[in-house]
Amino acid sequence: MKHKILVTGGAGYIGSHTCIALHQAGYEVVVFDNLSNSSAEAVNRVSQLIDAPIEFIKGDIRDRKALQKVFSEHEFFGVIHFAGLKAVGESVAKPLLYYDNNVSGTITLLDVMSEFSMKRFVFSSSATVYGDPETLPIPENAPRSATNPYGQSKLTVECVLEDLAVADNDWSLVTLRYFNPVGAHSSGIIGEDPNDIPNNLMPFISQVAVGKLEKLSIFGKDYATIDGTGVRDFIHVTDLALGHVAALDYLKEQSGSKEGHSVGFLPINLGTGKGTSVLELVDTFAKVTEQDIPYQFAKRRAGDIASCYASADKAKTLLGWEAKLSIIDMCTDTWRWQSRNPNGYNAS
Ligand code: NAD
Ligand code: UFG
Repeated sequence: MKHKILVTGGAGYIGSHTCIALHQAGYEVVVFDNLSNSSAEAVNRVSQLIDAPIEFIKGDIRDRKALQKVFSEHEFFGVIHFAGLKAVGESVAKPLLYYDNNVSGTITLLDVMSEFSMKRFVFSSSATVYGDPETLPIPENAPRSATNPYGQSKLTVECVLEDLAVADNDWSLVTLRYFNPVGAHSSGIIGEDPNDIPNNLMPFISQVAVGKLEKLSIFGKDYATIDGTGVRDFIHVTDLALGHVAALDYLKEQSGSKEGHSVGFLPINLGTGKGTSVLELVDTFAKVTEQDIPYQFAKRRAGDIASCYASADKAKTLLGWEAKLSIIDMCTDTWRWQSRNPNGYNAS
């Protein structure tokens, strides 16, 4: 029998790639998404890629009744919870929206799961919870802090999950802290489709390459890094997707073991363990795609840190997962998606 997984936010960037990986690993997927930052076309394309229908439910995680309906109609092995808002700048302007969506929404989801005794949960957290890290590479037990409402919403949910694990040891609450997800499915059929002008580096570079944006601004050239620009742990979205499969496989193993079936609150970094500078990424993208990427240096962006990369040991030891794809793969696949879909999921 196939294990059925509820994927909230499954129409989004990381969710859509994870649906493919889950299907390929033999899981059955039900997508629940309000399409506030995505398009139903992404789900159609996933379905086309896996050559199988995907059950899609349009709904909001803050809508208790809608969730109760979903849980009463399906028997899930677990939930992967991607649904959330993620724009740092917008979170500063609209904190109530972010706390309502990301924190209240998650609490409603956990509450309904509890009502249906469904207690396996995989949460999309972020390296943002490490704030400005004291140690590099960053281990999971590093101190946590937040510098904006988005980061605070992730940190708050982590605290909720920790408290929940203490209160009820039936819960398995795997908290995956993503570093910098980039890239696209190797088919070029699905990828990242940001609304408006991208805030993040890779989609900005690819929109410059395709001619939608004129020039990249590199924020800061005087950081204490290899070339003065920021250093990040870029991770291919396909590797990230496989990290979720590894987390579920691990929960499957645990649920079959004698000594205990739940893992409590379990934070795990999903990164490559390697730092790449902004300039290195721009140069690699230009070389691999043979596109010109005009750029200028600009002042540091408020809230940015110099360097951030993961200790990826825990994921390897515990889940048997490690990132395999290179920066070249990330650039090649981003470009394939961007050049074939200059307007993302909009046909024109
Ligand atoms: P995304 O915006 O592409 O996907 C999120 C999806 O959730 C969207 O399809 C959106 O429509 C849906 N959604 C939002 N609020 C909802 C609600 N109330 N009810 C139902 N659906 C809702 O973002 P993504 O990049 O795929 O990120 C997925 C998750 O990973 C998010 O929680 C994000 O915070 C987290 N994360 C992302 C990054 C990154 O750089 N992309 C890094 C760290 C963590
Ligand atoms: N950068 C530029 N120019 C741009 C955009 C970014 O120089 O136009 C630089 C930034 O200054 C930074 C690096 O590129 O040095 C990466 O910036 P991103 O915005 O792509 O990513 P961040 O590391 O700032 O943040 C991302 C997500 C956060 C998440 C964090 C950790 O946006 O939500 O990764 O997971 F919390």
